[in-house]
Amino acid sequence: MIERTHWHPVADAQTIADGPVAARLLGDDLVLWRDPQGAVHAWPDRCPHRGAKLSLGRIEGGHLECPYHGWQFEGGGRCMRVPALPGFVPPATHRVQAFEAREDHGLVFVRLASGGDAMPLFEAEGDDRLRKLNCGPYDVAASAPRIIENFLDMAHFGFVHEGWLGARDATAIDTYRVEETPTGLRATDCKAWQPQSNLHSTAPAQVEYGYEVTGPYTAVLTKIPEAGTVAVAGWREAIALFICPREPERSRVWFRLAVADFDSSDEKLRAFQDTIFLQDRPVLESQTPRLLPLDPRAELHTAADRASAAYRRYLSRLGITFGVL
Ligand code: FES
Ligand SMILES: [Fe+2]
Repeated sequence: MIERTHWHPVADAQTIADGPVAARLLGDDLVLWRDPQGAVHAWPDRCPHRGAKLSLGRIEGGHLECPYHGWQFEGGGRCMRVPALPGFVPPATHRVQAFEAREDHGLVFVRLASGGDAMPLFEAEGDDRLRKLNCGPYDVAASAPRIIENFLDMAHFGFVHEGWLGARDATAIDTYRVEETPTGLRATDCKAWQPQSNLHSTAPAQVEYGYEVTGPYTAVLTKIPEAGTVAVAGWREAIALFICPREPERSRVWFRLAVADFDSSDEKLRAFQDTIFLQDRPVLESQTPRLLPLDPRAELHTAADRASAAYRRYLSRLGITFGVL
């Protein structure tokens, strides 16, 4: 599975603190824990002794201790102690197989197999003029690719987000451009008439977006500043969509905002995002098949769907098999 060589978000970084945490990625159970030096580790959630879940254990003396017989493992995965045999020095083969884990964007990312794939790009992350805030996680009974397509889709605004991101009397989608990129695709010149495009909108506005698919299950939306707003050259608000593909038809979703608004509380910014995404969720969960069909004949397409059609071609090209049909 090529998707095992990609980095995927699995948890909020700050939730990995005092004890081990269970996570699920690409159908595998993981245990996440943080050592006293602050490094996060991601391992299979299965003790190599008798298969108990390590996420039910605890951290003792800087090691992860299994809940069953108390074997202790150091950060690199090696077993350091077998309490039933105090004099026994476990050989190097007594170990768990660690996955690669790293923290970025306030999340823990894991990849299950090496393969040289880079972290998904989010350029706004490095821009100090923008405030970063994570929204979610949202658990959705839908495949990750269906959620990406929803993010790229402007034709649903006037229906699913009526009065917010769209209006029923302004649902036409102007031609927009889509091009392939090494990590996915880019859509530009995307315009939408939006009654309430963000927390502070006071009047409907024509909003211009750019979309970028940055990996099989990640995407970034960039908002072109509206005329007459506090636009600074090169300054663009952005929202990254990070999805953990837990099961083929179950996903965990985060949005990372990079916004110019430093005044609103975290709660207010999150409440707006919650409102929008909770409008999407029931529709996403209603779609069948839940797996995204890659055969172009499986569903009907129009020119307004060219971003999603390009996304499907990209997944096919990549050889993605998880979450697709
Ligand atoms: S099952 Fe983990 S120590 Fe025995
Ligand atoms: Fe939506």
